[in-house]
Amino acid sequence: MQRQYVHVQSRTLAYFDSAPGDRALRVALFVHAFPLGAAMWESQFKSVPPGWRFVAIDLRGFGGSTINEAAEQPPRIDDYATDVVDLLRELEIAKVVLVGLSMGGYVTLAVLRRAPEVVSAVVLADTRAGADTPEGRGNRRNMLALLDREGPQGVARDMMAKLIGRTSSVERPEVESVVRRLIKQQPPEAIRGAIHRMMERPDSGDVLRGVTVPILIIVGDEDELTPVEEARKMHAMAANAELAIIPRTGHVANLEQPDVFNSTLAAFLSRL
Ligand code: MLT
Repeated sequence: MQRQYVHVQSRTLAYFDSAPGDRALRVALFVHAFPLGAAMWESQFKSVPPGWRFVAIDLRGFGGSTINEAAEQPPRIDDYATDVVDLLRELEIAKVVLVGLSMGGYVTLAVLRRAPEVVSAVVLADTRAGADTPEGRGNRRNMLALLDREGPQGVARDMMAKLIGRTSSVERPEVESVVRRLIKQQPPEAIRGAIHRMMERPDSGDVLRGVTVPILIIVGDEDELTPVEEARKMHAMAANAELAIIPRTGHVANLEQPDVFNSTLAAFLSRL
């Protein structure tokens, strides 16, 4: 995968594109988890179904995308929705299937709130529709302090056991090294911005209830950060949703079980 770049005013947006400029293909746009960047979708790009083009965005500050903190106060989850909409406009793509995992799911819901006309179907993986609880916000403040003290490395250490399911930690040790590498590549200011944006994001239950396009909800049955119960809640809220529970998988389902994730996604795309 080779990063591509577009420039929007004073910002640079980086992304991966499986078929740059190919207008004959339908497009699925992937939005990454916290704090990983677009490279987390590498295994999905190795298995692009015929007729499809995959694009994966680096949200501002992550991967190759730039950040302008001064212009972004207060940070909001909508900033990331702006990144998605800006990238689609620059690439002249009118409609996409939006695929978001965890924080990427929060961003997907923000895009649906702000620009539903660009979305033809939705995949919400290992995510939730609700806002942070007061306890969740407290945990975010602790993570901000940890980031200040130890940088991305401290965040990687703290998050690892929550990101990866128990089966993967025993049977798929390579997942941990990939996740650690992806986190350590991210600049502290990108991680800080994402923590603020996640802790301030609104409840998106109303958005999900209003979605009329097809939705696929995916969750690993060992996901502790956004457990199966959260996926079931989203499934009950959405009119046109199907639910896929991937066994022996934690929070980063696409990295832990890429083959199952890819075939579940491909089956959904083939039905659109
Ligand atoms: C993520 O994987 O994107 C984050 O864990 C989501 C969160 O912390 O709420």
